[in-house]
Amino acid sequence: MIELKGINKTYQTANGSIKALENVSVDIGPGKAWGFIGLSGAGKSTLLRCVNLLERPDSGTVLIDGEDLMALNSKTLLRRRQRIGMIFQHFNLLANCSVFENVAFPLSIAKLSKNRIRELVGESLDIVNLSDRAKDYPAKLSGGQKQRVAIARAIAMEPKILLCDEPTSALDPQTTSVILEYLKKVNQGLGITVVLVTHEMEAARKICDTVSVLEHGRLVETLSLSDPAVDPQSVLARHLFGYGAGI
Ligand SMILES: Nc1ncnc2c1ncn2[C@@H]1O[C@H](COP(=O)(O)OP(=O)(O)O)[C@@H](O)[C@H]1O
Ligand SMILES: [Mg+2]
Repeated sequence: MIELKGINKTYQTANGSIKALENVSVDIGPGKAWGFIGLSGAGKSTLLRCVNLLERPDSGTVLIDGEDLMALNSKTLLRRRQRIGMIFQHFNLLANCSVFENVAFPLSIAKLSKNRIRELVGESLDIVNLSDRAKDYPAKLSGGQKQRVAIARAIAMEPKILLCDEPTSALDPQTTSVILEYLKKVNQGLGITVVLVTHEMEAARKICDTVSVLEHGRLVETLSLSDPAVDPQSVLARHLFGYGAGI
């Protein structure tokens, strides 16, 4: 369970302050696939990074399974973060490491035994159907394969939550569908809560139960995508759903 309560975040820059998030509250139940959608600059990445405190809110509360992350000391926070996976638009693989070593990397940081690491890497690569590429280096892989390695790296840590920041934005439509299918498998097959940040409603529609719309740092609307009569009210949500006029 992820509970964000009254999250505020302002960045100070040379040109003044930017209010990235304003009083954002949302509860995401366990096992959900939850989308955050909005235009560029809406605050989506900032909000996602608040879930594992890579970004610390100025005020508000972040509860994971009832535990207040902001109250933890840094050592405990690091341990909690190990159970919150993250994937990114640009994959963030280590170029000088093989696929196996990339997936093993966080496991060795967490000081797991060699045998356990081999086991977890094997299982994770199996889930993304890349067992036969374990010895390859990222440069030999396509974008979609790289993102599958990133998914394997995240799930090898047996996370409860997987945070996805525009995971398909660098991929062509066909590869996007493949990656979304794997994320669905992670969500429905492994029971991992998936939080998907995207600017593409199509992506959210493919895997999310629910989508929250962010605009200028504010949460304007939350919609159930399983509802066939879903009827967005805000101009932005209607635009993102492909209804009515542009914005
Ligand atoms: N580290 C930062 N320093 C200063 N401003 C930032 C920083 N990160 C994000 N911002 C600003 O905060 C706002 C929200 O950014 P972001 O969360 O990246 O939005 P999104 O992911 O929806 O595109 C934008 O105006 C962006 O320029
Ligand atoms: Mg972003």
